[in-house]
Amino acid sequence: CGIVGYIGQNDTKEVLLNGLEKLEYRGYDSAGIAMLNNEGVHVTKVKGRIAVLRDRVEPSIHATMGIGHTRWATHGVPSEENAHPHQSASGRFTLVHNGVIENYHDIKKDHLQSTNFVSETDTEVIVQLIEKLHDEYQDTKESFRQALKLLKGSYAIGLIDHEDQDTLYVAKNKSPLLVGIGEGFNLVASDAMATLKETDQYVEIHDQEIVLVQRDSVEIQTLDGEVITREAYTAQLDVSDIEKGTYPHFMLKEIDEQPFVMRKIINEYQTENNELKLDENIRAAMKACDRIYIIAAGTSYHAGLVGKEFIEKLAKVPVEVHVASEFSYNMPLLSEKPLFVFISQSGETADSRAVLVKIKELGYPSLTITNVPGSTLSREADYTLNLYAGPEIAVASTKAYTAQIAVLAILAVDTAKAQGITLDFDPMQELAIVANAMEILTDQKEGIEELVREYLPTSRNAFFIGRSTDYHVCMEGALKLKEISYIQAEGFAGGELKHGTIALIEEGTPVIALATQENVNYSIRGNVQEVVARGANALVISMRGLEQDTDAFVIPHVHELLTPLVSVVPLQLLAYYAALHRDCDVDKPRNLAKSVTVE
Ligand code: G6P
Repeated sequence: CGIVGYIGQNDTKEVLLNGLEKLEYRGYDSAGIAMLNNEGVHVTKVKGRIAVLRDRVEPSIHATMGIGHTRWATHGVPSEENAHPHQSASGRFTLVHNGVIENYHDIKKDHLQSTNFVSETDTEVIVQLIEKLHDEYQDTKESFRQALKLLKGSYAIGLIDHEDQDTLYVAKNKSPLLVGIGEGFNLVASDAMATLKETDQYVEIHDQEIVLVQRDSVEIQTLDGEVITREAYTAQLDVSDIEKGTYPHFMLKEIDEQPFVMRKIINEYQTENNELKLDENIRAAMKACDRIYIIAAGTSYHAGLVGKEFIEKLAKVPVEVHVASEFSYNMPLLSEKPLFVFISQSGETADSRAVLVKIKELGYPSLTITNVPGSTLSREADYTLNLYAGPEIAVASTKAYTAQIAVLAILAVDTAKAQGITLDFDPMQELAIVANAMEILTDQKEGIEELVREYLPTSRNAFFIGRSTDYHVCMEGALKLKEISYIQAEGFAGGELKHGTIALIEEGTPVIALATQENVNYSIRGNVQEVVARGANALVISMRGLEQDTDAFVIPHVHELLTPLVSVVPLQLLAYYAALHRDCDVDKPRNLAKSVTVE
């Protein structure tokens, strides 16, 4: 979910709606805003996208303060009742919330027995609790503070008291929240992207802090009332980075940006003398550990699988890759000197953060590889490596995946060098070749669209097979296809087919096979024969040098270690055109959110 709030001199409507549009990547199943003026509070809520909300908001309302929310449902179905803002029984308090209140049942039982709830959400409990406490404390700030002390879980909250047109009450714990500073106005948002049009000055809010946001002032306090002074920083984002420009979809724009991201990474991680440029502390941490634990979710997990190969093959350090949500609850036996590497495009994924919190308690060092430098995982880990991919807006991750792999390759080489290992592999030179190969591929969109017509016309399912590195790219290719086109797609290790999956092959079943690795080229070809013999419609994507006449698509030759960076591009485009042909919402697939800030 995403939240935004404004208090200033101008009409708040546009600021809130524009802000929510920019936050839609965080969830988009329902939305709402509340505006306060002399006539009282005006709440508009809808099931659906911000565009629906925009149509529904009464244009004649003029207010100079308000809060807004775009939702990714956790407790309660997407509906108007469950959409935020939520109001207290008397209507005095109105609130938006991002996060999950874990003890909302207990709070209901212990404090709100006689309250009638109108929604199924955990959020309504917060606003009802504030009202209840207000009966006792007769002071909004104090009631808010006391309420927060009772909450367990994650929250970013924006609260309006109808009897106070001068203060926006805000608080944060575990969910992201920033305060934007303007002249004569101030803002709050889950992400600076939401309010970049208004200001580029932001103040970080830390966990368990309350903020009183007024037109000309921002006061940060801890839950115990201690006042905190914190400087504003300038957000390093450009408004044009977050616009689609002439592209029909962000996903296509972001696929096309990949060659530029590769070149940017080469520049950022290289000194003038062509040496690798990496923080000495990271170098030391990589050298000092006896095992690396990569923690990630979704696409970032898939990048981690490729990263493991780099680090093990080049730097000879053992690596385990774990899905964040599993690691938290089923921790493996750790080595003596572990180093935790978090891979996260957004730097906000709650599952990953839960692991970070846990391993910090245990005293282990941590490195975050992220696209968002000021993000929670970046701030809270000991070290950060940036991806320099620019904002990624489409829910399906593309350029962040390839950026993660490129940075992991650089990290692996740097670690190898730090250990005195001589390598016959210049990552910058090879990445430059990759960038050119990517450009060749992004120029072949028509060819790929043709493949979609031929191989994925009306299929309900599709399989991706590969061996070794290709297997990991297949997992990513399948994830891309399923998340945006809703074709049931799975990535399998070629050799595993015969142990079960092959039973699913029927006449015409699309099977996409990757063949970019010389040492397994012969065996993956054998797997292709096996599925073809059972009726599959096999689409082979191979690399120049390993191709056969029947291959549907050949990618340019790049260093064998770096093939994932190139072989994934046609898979991204396959997913894109498959989704387009099925009239799916490419950038905002159903049920998903780009940044999942709940566990
Ligand atoms: C969500 C997104 C995925 C993403 C995953 C991890 O599920 O829909 O595209 O890969 O989160 O996100 P992160 O920001 O941690 O890389």
